[in-house]
Amino acid sequence: MSEKEKSTELCKEGEKTEGDSGLGLGVLFFLIAFVVVFLSGWLLFPKLLYSKKEQPFNFNHVLHTNETGSCDTCHFLREDGSYNGIPDLASCMECHEEEPMGDTEDELIFCEEYIAKEKEVPWFIYSKQPDCVFFSHAAHLKGKNSMECKTCHGDIGESEESKPYEENRITGYGRDIWGKSIWGIKKHSWDRMKMDDCAECHKEETGSQGACFQCHK
Ligand code: HEC
Ligand code: HEC
Ligand code: HEC
Ligand code: HEC
Ligand code: HEC
Repeated sequence: MSEKEKSTELCKEGEKTEGDSGLGLGVLFFLIAFVVVFLSGWLLFPKLLYSKKEQPFNFNHVLHTNETGSCDTCHFLREDGSYNGIPDLASCMECHEEEPMGDTEDELIFCEEYIAKEKEVPWFIYSKQPDCVFFSHAAHLKGKNSMECKTCHGDIGESEESKPYEENRITGYGRDIWGKSIWGIKKHSWDRMKMDDCAECHKEETGSQGACFQCHK
């Protein structure tokens, strides 16, 4: 091979590799852009989809369950089968007066803003279902079907602080309904409370998903 031929050979090779690396760079940029967009969607979407709201003040479940001895003193089934849900101000005032017993900021807010003004605390309800859904605690807590609170609510009863309420901007539902994972991945029975989750357990327990009117008003 002459000097000239050698150099043209090299040139061609150079062209070839240059072309390759051009393509390689393009693929690389595409991948980087893809990962950036994908990650920002993954991380940002849930943040944009849900707006966080703090409860009026923290409620310490551990402290109060130790004081009262059980959940039932506050959350209980009434004679007529309806559920007491979150206790009203009057039942808090069996122990609390206008003067705080301790020195935490939460108790101060509670005493000044609510007890002194005789105003009910506007708690957000994490598990609140849409108005068209009928749910009865009695069906799930009584007799042979007596289920643990944790099965549906997770560890709220064992918490020392109220978690923020996250509201879905599109549907207006709390995050406990659609669940933490935007992909709908479910590891615990309490991760979600969507229609399919209710139906899944009903099918397991009773062999049938039930008619629409069982859960819809
Ligand atoms: C059986 C009695 C009892 C009842 C009923 C009760 N509490 Fe308390 N609560 C206490 C005691 C005791 C403390 C501890 C006071 C301290 O030393 O800080 C406390 C503390 C608190 C604190 C401050 C706790 C902290 O860690 O910051 C808040 C807020 C509070 N209670 C809200 C409520 C609300 C709201 C209700 C009604 C749903 C209620 N309590 C019902 C006994 C009670
Ligand atoms: C002294 C009264 C009191 C006792 C005792 C008590 N709770 Fe509560 N519970 C409350 C109040 C007040 C709220 C509203 C504040 C909040 O969500 O943190 C609440 C909220 C809840 C919620 C949230 C429901 C929702 O969807 O928003 C669950 C679940 C719950 N309690 C379970 C329990 C369990 C389980 C126990 C027993 C281990 C228990 N509670 C003991 C007063 C009480
Ligand atoms: C089968 C699932 C399930 C079980 C078990 C269950 N809950 Fe609930 N709970 C719900 C659903 C669903 C809602 C929302 C109801 C609605 O919006 O109509 C709710 C609502 C609540 C609320 C909010 C107040 C309200 O409006 O009723 C409290 C407090 C509560 N549950 C406490 C408890 C406690 C305490 C236990 C255990 C003794 C328990 N729950 C067991 C599913 C369950
Ligand atoms: C982990 C199991 C489980 C989950 C989750 C569950 N349920 Fe149930 N549910 C039951 C069982 C068991 C019964 C009792 C069935 C019976 O006695 O025939 C029942 C009964 C009912 C009934 C009464 C039906 C009747 O005809 O008396 C309604 C309404 C209901 N469930 C609604 C719901 C809704 C809404 C949800 C979801 C937010 C839900 N359930 C989640 C187990 C579950
Ligand atoms: C076991 C209880 C249960 C049964 C049975 C059931 N649903 Fe539902 N449904 C729910 C719950 C809980 C929700 C709210 C949570 C969600 O969006 O998944 C819901 C939500 C819905 C919604 C959306 C409403 C909204 O405002 O988001 C529609 C539509 C619906 N159901 C239709 C049906 C039809 C049609 C049937 C009969 C084939 C049926 N459901 C049977 C529990 C049930």
